[in-house]
Amino acid sequence: MTQPHGPAEAVIDIDALQANLAHIMSAVAPATVMAVVKADAYGHGAVEIAAAAREVGIEWLGVAFPTEALALRAAGDVGPMLAWLYAPDDPHLQACIAADVDVSVSSIDDLGDVVIAGAGRKPFVHLKIDTGLGRGGCPISDWPALVRAARDAEVAGVLTVRGIWSHFAVSDEPHRSESADQIALFNKALGIAREMGLEPTITHLANTAGALMRPEARFDLVRIGIGAYGISPGHDLGSPDDLGITPVMSLRTQVAQLKQIPAGHGVSYGLTWRADRPSTLALIPLGYADGIPRSSVGAEVQISGQRFTVVGRIAMDQFVVDVTDGDVASGDEVVIFGSGDDGEPTAADWAMWADTIAYEIVTRIGPRVRRRYKV
Ligand SMILES: Cc1ncc(COP(=O)(O)O)c(C=O)c1O
Repeated sequence: MTQPHGPAEAVIDIDALQANLAHIMSAVAPATVMAVVKADAYGHGAVEIAAAAREVGIEWLGVAFPTEALALRAAGDVGPMLAWLYAPDDPHLQACIAADVDVSVSSIDDLGDVVIAGAGRKPFVHLKIDTGLGRGGCPISDWPALVRAARDAEVAGVLTVRGIWSHFAVSDEPHRSESADQIALFNKALGIAREMGLEPTITHLANTAGALMRPEARFDLVRIGIGAYGISPGHDLGSPDDLGITPVMSLRTQVAQLKQIPAGHGVSYGLTWRADRPSTLALIPLGYADGIPRSSVGAEVQISGQRFTVVGRIAMDQFVVDVTDGDVASGDEVVIFGSGDDGEPTAADWAMWADTIAYEIVTRIGPRVRRRYKV
């Protein structure tokens, strides 16, 4: 098992998380907020984030896998929780249902698995309709058959359909028309389900972007991931400030070594960068094994309030910045990213440098980085 190692730490600002959640809860009311804590709460630490979310009145938690739900139960969480992704014969589905975790059902096969895994427990299920994402969920053509089978199971007393749900494809691009089509199809699927006798009490479609941009997409509950962590879902939605949220994670480490190199000296694998003057280099002990994207171009870090550029390739455990024009000492604190309030880069900046999304930047910060919770 990988242990935290070295000076790197992801500082998690619990006040910021709770303020983000409180802000989103009031923005989307009367819809309920589910805090999405899958993937170790997007790298922030699921157990700690779940507990902090419950403290500010979050009723529902959402995870992808049964094992993620079970880890939260093992840590003492007892509140409403939904797990939405499992493969046939998932060995943890039974324990998940026994731990009072609601599970998603996208097909008649899923329904069969849940009935077997939930024997004697009368599990709560959320039927998932694919309204256009083309990922999980039941196609509309198969929906009446799934609804009928679920209703039959309800009448037989083996499960309860608590929810009907779906997931957006382009909610982070508010100008696109497909979200309205998804809402329309979701309403149609709800109509079919109700006509056929289902009475779901929790209908849900929206993630952060959908919840914030489209009041008509809020239904009974919204599933909030990235917004809780203080990151904007995308450029088109504006900055965290525009959305009234604050980034929760700040990634920090220390300069491991400082050295001078002569002009012409190369740096890191492939020697893709060479100094054009005598230079001072700072070695930063974090690499792609810790989630620093190797593909980053033009990335910067902050040391002693100044920004410096990464030079040469990012390696597995380390990378190098050119500090020739700064006043840097070995052991100085290095801010890889943070809220941006003090001029440091943000996870969104790293996403731009690595041509990815900020979700990936925070989620991939690895287990060698210690998490420190700041309240
Ligand atoms: C099914 C589902 N709902 C909600 C979310 C939360 O989305 P966001 O982080 O954009 O709020 C996710 C995250 O990917 C998801 O997979």
